Formats: sequence, structure tokens, C-alpha cells
Amino acid sequence: MENGNRYFKLNTGAEMPALGLGTWQADPGVVGDTVATAIKAGYRHIDCARLYSNEKEIGSVLKKLFEDGVVKREELWITSKLWCTDHAPEDVLEALDTALQDLQVDYIDLYLIHFPARMKKGSVGFNHENLIQPDIPSTWRAMEAVYDSGKARAIGVSNFSSKKLGDLLKVARIPPAVNQVECHPLWQQKKMRAFCKSKGIHLSGYSPLGSPGTTWIKVDVLKHPVVNMVADKLGKTPAQVALRWGLQMGHSVLPKTTNEARIKENMDIFDWSIPNDLLAKFSEIEQAIIICTIPVKVKLIRGVSFVHDTYGPYRSLEEFWDGEI
Ligand code: A2P
Repeated sequence: MENGNRYFKLNTGAEMPALGLGTWQADPGVVGDTVATAIKAGYRHIDCARLYSNEKEIGSVLKKLFEDGVVKREELWITSKLWCTDHAPEDVLEALDTALQDLQVDYIDLYLIHFPARMKKGSVGFNHENLIQPDIPSTWRAMEAVYDSGKARAIGVSNFSSKKLGDLLKVARIPPAVNQVECHPLWQQKKMRAFCKSKGIHLSGYSPLGSPGTTWIKVDVLKHPVVNMVADKLGKTPAQVALRWGLQMGHSVLPKTTNEARIKENMDIFDWSIPNDLLAKFSEIEQAIIICTIPVKVKLIRGVSFVHDTYGPYRSLEEFWDGEI
């Protein structure tokens, strides 16, 4: 971490703000005000995706903030993600152009392959009939062309296992700058962290609070005794401790909130730190107890939509994550 803990330097040389506002499940009609509030409060990193269906609203707000001189484009870090229906090499640039148009910007700072999974072009929803075999090397070549065009100043991936990341590195002309994965005290991504570090890839953590508002995800990061014990000792909230833990592990953190008080609460993570004796307690936390209650009860949810035991390109979550769960 550099510059007073507020940025991480990527392998492109760019400095990515360590705290980003997550926008998954930030509802239409709300997300715009949330982004404006966050930027006015000092956020400089917004994590977006085509999947979240809210980039247009975010774009209108960004335009206004730029016009009003609240923030300059070059002061902001904007990430977006290539959806699974656009993996065909000839569709990648078009998908990015749509994101640029929706977000009303000339370039984005980071463009990620959202999942190592591919769905039929134009398909909607997660029906297994829409799943097709991904061809990551060919999609990546198109991502590299996007990088060459200057429309995305860094490229990377999301939800890749270290095995898939390693396979990609073998064929990449431009190595991914980031792997964005779920990461919090109950899924610490120890193997991934070490792998990313050894390859100069930044690990960015989504759902850093364990998505407490998502009813079908059952993971109690904010109620975990270690997180609460540390919060009590330091006079911080459990959310602040979970986020600060991420920063000290070397990850950027992307908490989502649409609540103004929590937007501010989640920013107060830079001027203090978790001392080493308390930090050590996190390594004792039991891992991977993330339960999905729909459509089937599984231990781990990320990637479940891309798995089908008969028809899927991935027959199991173990295969999706290459056994790293
Ligand atoms: P809300 O948007 O109502 O604030 P994650 O980023 O891990 O996916 O978690 C997002 C969820 O956590 C949302 O439901 C959000 O609710 C809630 N949340 C965000 N910040 C905090 C906080 N500081 N304390 C408690 N819950 C929070």
C-alpha cells in the first residue's frame, strides 16, 4: 500500500484507490444519488459492471459531477466488467463501448472479465441452456486489444482461481493487473493472495462485508466474534474492522452501501490500523462457510450459476474453482 494507505500500485504503474464503492445491488433510482454522495464524501473509486444494470444512471450522475466541477475525470477510478454473453472476441470492444457510452466517459480505468464463464450472446438469465464453453485465451486477446486502444487503461479478471489465472498468464501478452474476488475474514483467499503477490497481480476484494443484506447468502462476517472483539478493542465498527483487515492484507476493498452514514463509516479506515497481535487472530478464523440457500444449498456460492452437473462447462463448483475452496 502506498500514499498513506490510500492507493495500491498496479502492474501498469497506475495507482488504484484502495477503497471503492461497490454498486452490485444498488437499485435503480438509488444508485445515482449514492454515487454522488460517495464522491462528495471523498470516494474516488466506483466499481461497476454491465451485470448490475445501473451503469446508465451512474453515467448521468458522473456527467453532472464533472460538469459541476465536483470531481475531475482523472481523479476518479472507474472499473467495469465484461459480461459472460460478450466473450466472443468480436464482441468485447463493442461491450466496452457500450459501457463507455452508458458511463459517459472516454475511457475506464479497469476492465475485467467478470467470470471465467461464457453464455450465449444476447441470452438473459442463468439458465444452464445459455452456458457455453469459455475460451479465455481468445477473449483475453480481445481484452488486450481494448487495452491497446486506450479505452481501458488496465485489464484484468474476476472470479478466477489461481489455476485459471496461471493458465491465463501463460498465454497473455499483457498480464492481468487485477483479479477481483470475494474476499473477507471468512473467505480470506490465502492461496490466491500468495499467488497474486508472486505474479504482481493485485487482489481486489468484493463483498468485503460478506454481503449482509443479501438474504440468500449466509455468511456472518459482521457478527463474527473475532471481528467484533477487534472492533470493541479498537472502538471501531465491525464493518470498519473487516475493511481495514482487507487493506492490511494488501487488498483493495469494495463495500456496497446506499446509506449515507455507512458511506462515511466505510471511509474511516485509513488513519488507524489493527495491531499485529489482533491481526493474527484473523488467521484462526474457519474458512469457506458461505452458504447459498437458493437454488440449491451449497457451501460456496460464487460461480454457482455457471455450474451444471450434466450440461455445464463446469460440472461442479470444485471444478469452477479448481479445488481451491
Ligand atoms: P446498505 O446498502 O443498506 O448500507 P458487501 O459490500 O459485502 O456486499 O455488503 C453490502 C451490504 O452491507 C449491504 O446490504 C449494505 O447495506 C451493508 N453495509 C454496508 N456498509 C455497512 C456497514 N458499515 N455496516 C453494516 N452494514 C453495511
